[in-house]
Amino acid sequence: MATVDWTADANEALTLSLVRAEEDKQVPGSEETSEEFHPTFTYPIYGEEEKIYGYQDLVIDLRFASGSLAQYLSVRYAQKLDASTTVDNVEGILKEFIPPDYDTDETAFLTRVEEDAVLFQPIGSVVHTYTRPVPNTSGSTREVVEYEVCHATWNDPGFREYHRRMQLFILLYIEAGSYINEDDDAWHFFVSYEKRKRQNGTKTYHFIGYSSVYKFYCFPEKHRLRLSQFVIIPPYQHRGHGSELYKTIYNYVLLNPLISELTVEDPAEAFEDLRDRNDLRMLLANENFMKEGFGNEAVSHGGGKVRKRKTRVRANPVGAPSGTVKRTGK
Ligand code: ACO
Repeated sequence: MATVDWTADANEALTLSLVRAEEDKQVPGSEETSEEFHPTFTYPIYGEEEKIYGYQDLVIDLRFASGSLAQYLSVRYAQKLDASTTVDNVEGILKEFIPPDYDTDETAFLTRVEEDAVLFQPIGSVVHTYTRPVPNTSGSTREVVEYEVCHATWNDPGFREYHRRMQLFILLYIEAGSYINEDDDAWHFFVSYEKRKRQNGTKTYHFIGYSSVYKFYCFPEKHRLRLSQFVIIPPYQHRGHGSELYKTIYNYVLLNPLISELTVEDPAEAFEDLRDRNDLRMLLANENFMKEGFGNEAVSHGGGKVRKRKTRVRANPVGAPSGTVKRTGK
């Protein structure tokens, strides 16, 4: 008799999607960003082995409203082992990592998506805008789409709640990523959005990714920023949005004379690649850098100084909070 496998791969079972309001689904490119995707890691949630025991054909359907990131959770399966202490409580475990106000009723969630699409506005102040062409529905011509990056802190009304909805992506996509301390005022955030115009002229916003940076005091009268967490969600990867987010943070530092340097906490290889490419592009575009003799003196650039940047922070300053924790056993 064939044996039944009651163990599911948590990364495959957890199915994520971004849901747009009906009208916003019609815009070119939205079908791609509405596709389902899966996490890279679930070990912080479902354990080191990333396995869930006790179900057949398990689907953990976690949907986000594309802008407000309001959540819907539905756990479905073909069969579940009789209640026993060994069967994992799928929803009970995930619940610990998401805000409690998620919907379990699909109709209620879809109503919320429609409402949020009208009401949701990015929180904080816009620090960068850019455009990208996307193919239109016929695929022949390309439409220009606008994007925005906003800077926010805990002091921006509603941002704390918004952060609680987006921080799950850190656990799911950054190895050793961990939740940060909400009581620590030194955190700053840069959040990227796709911005679309509706037929009536109003704007809707769709979440792309974000970065959290930590502000340290730097003797005697400055600060330095440490880029701690950085994620672009899969439907938006490989379209230059990570580069735009990184350049935004870089320029924010460059233009702020009270920030002395930008460092990066434990960069992943893909992030190092992104940073090297962009740093190189920015240096090549800097006339002064390209002049012979650069390096003998500080060079004015965009109101600040071109600073020597550390390429990697190997250890956190003593007692410094971190957005990553070392994974054990791997
Ligand atoms: N069309 C096609 N490809 C493009 C386009 C475009 N319009 N623009 C850029 N690309 C290419 C780039 O050349 C680059 O190529 P490569 O993959 O061969 O190097 C690639 O796309 C990536 O560049 P971006 O698109 O600017 O970066 P992306 O938006 O994909 O973000 C990132 C990269 C942040 C690593 C993303 O993949 C991610 O979030 N990964 C998971 C989480 C993660 O690893 N985060 C970093 C952790 S380290 C830390 O937090 C400090």
